[in-house]
Amino acid sequence: MSHKALWSGRFKESLSKAALNFSTSIDLDKQLYQEDIAGSIAHVEMLSVCRIISAQEARRIRNALKAIQKEIETGKFQLSDDFEDIHLAIEHRLIQKIGPLGGKLHTGRSRNDQIALDERLYLRTSARELQKLITHLQRVLLYKSEKYFSVLMPGYTHVQRAQPVLLSHHLLAYVSMFDRDYDRLNDCLRRANKSPLGAAALAGTSFPIDRLRVARKLGFDGIVENSIDAVSDRDYLLECVSSCSILAMHLSRLAEELVLWSTREFAFVDISDAYTTGSSIMPQKKNPDIAELIRGKTGKVYGNLMNLLTMMKALPLAYNKDMQEDKAPFFDTMNTIRTSLFVMSHMFVHTEFRKDHLEEELRNDFTTATDVADYLVRKGLPFRAAHEITGKIVSYCIDHRMYFGNLDLETLRTFSKHFEADIFDHLLPHQSVEQKRSAGSTSPQEVKKQIVHWTRILKARK
Ligand code: ARG
Repeated sequence: MSHKALWSGRFKESLSKAALNFSTSIDLDKQLYQEDIAGSIAHVEMLSVCRIISAQEARRIRNALKAIQKEIETGKFQLSDDFEDIHLAIEHRLIQKIGPLGGKLHTGRSRNDQIALDERLYLRTSARELQKLITHLQRVLLYKSEKYFSVLMPGYTHVQRAQPVLLSHHLLAYVSMFDRDYDRLNDCLRRANKSPLGAAALAGTSFPIDRLRVARKLGFDGIVENSIDAVSDRDYLLECVSSCSILAMHLSRLAEELVLWSTREFAFVDISDAYTTGSSIMPQKKNPDIAELIRGKTGKVYGNLMNLLTMMKALPLAYNKDMQEDKAPFFDTMNTIRTSLFVMSHMFVHTEFRKDHLEEELRNDFTTATDVADYLVRKGLPFRAAHEITGKIVSYCIDHRMYFGNLDLETLRTFSKHFEADIFDHLLPHQSVEQKRSAGSTSPQEVKKQIVHWTRILKARK
């Protein structure tokens, strides 16, 4: 260690190089330098307002902290791993610059409340950034659902063709899913946006500090009341990473659909060359790597959640050094989700749907079978009987290499006398979709309502 540790008073020996290497967190927590300095400036201003240090002292400390921020940004001050963590590095530099006065900054404060503060500030910025990226992805999906409003596709259950739906309806399902992710981050932010500063090590402080003043200055909605709680918990990270895990799951499903849809077997979409790659051996290949990676990175995010949950399990109150291990999974989650949302939006803008192929696939299938059964129900048959008769018609068509569109009334009447000429209003996919009545269904009127709803919501969102 090239400098004396700021806590070295009671020690006769300095920390071994091996122990320092093992315990330093600066490699990761240097990302928190802005938060750490903002927190220190708010703290020092409060110390002067509360007459714990003089206004002039506060000014000098604040100016030096601002200068240190510049030094970090320009590379003049290197956050090397000689320092245990970002807090000690900045304080060390402060004392180097302004002498013993720099040592007054830590009055009524501890690294324990300091790190909790930095993390909550970082969470706030990065979660809001994710919310912006979610909104952008929702806008892309909404734009595509307007562009392809009239296009039909087979809806699936069990990855087997089920019923015709509007492509817009399918895309808008994702808009709803991502909206709940947005909302979950809001919930998380509401609880996380409280200041732990002033809890000090765990017990609070004997100095007459004003916790609420610091909280307001830093844009928090209030303080974490109980000082032991303020430095002990990491539930704000857990909530954030679990919301991100659900979000990653949603992204992985959309990514998976793009992977499937871009196969020759489905051929529903063309993903632009800019978001696909070739093979080093097979010249014909166009691989959906980006979608696959979004799908694949989900594992890492879930792993991060398990990491944090397990690290926190059974820790006695209050602060324990184990908690320093929270940074890698937290930062990795925020970075992974940020880049995944970003590339997904861009890739989706450059993905086009193959309207003709989608509709041709629908014509050559039996996705209106439920509509045929519903027709018979309206003619008075119990649904179970109608289901049985329709199943027989499907079987007949398969045996004779036909689809519903090839059937005539005479043939249909051999299955049930309830069939009349109006059955031909119910056999085609577009008729099926248009005849849906229920709220939230795939009928064009209902889907239009969703488009109007989301246009209004997403326009208002910043
Ligand atoms: N680097 C530490 C962490 O991230 C900061 C808090 C250290 N507190 C302490 N008492 N050693 O958890």
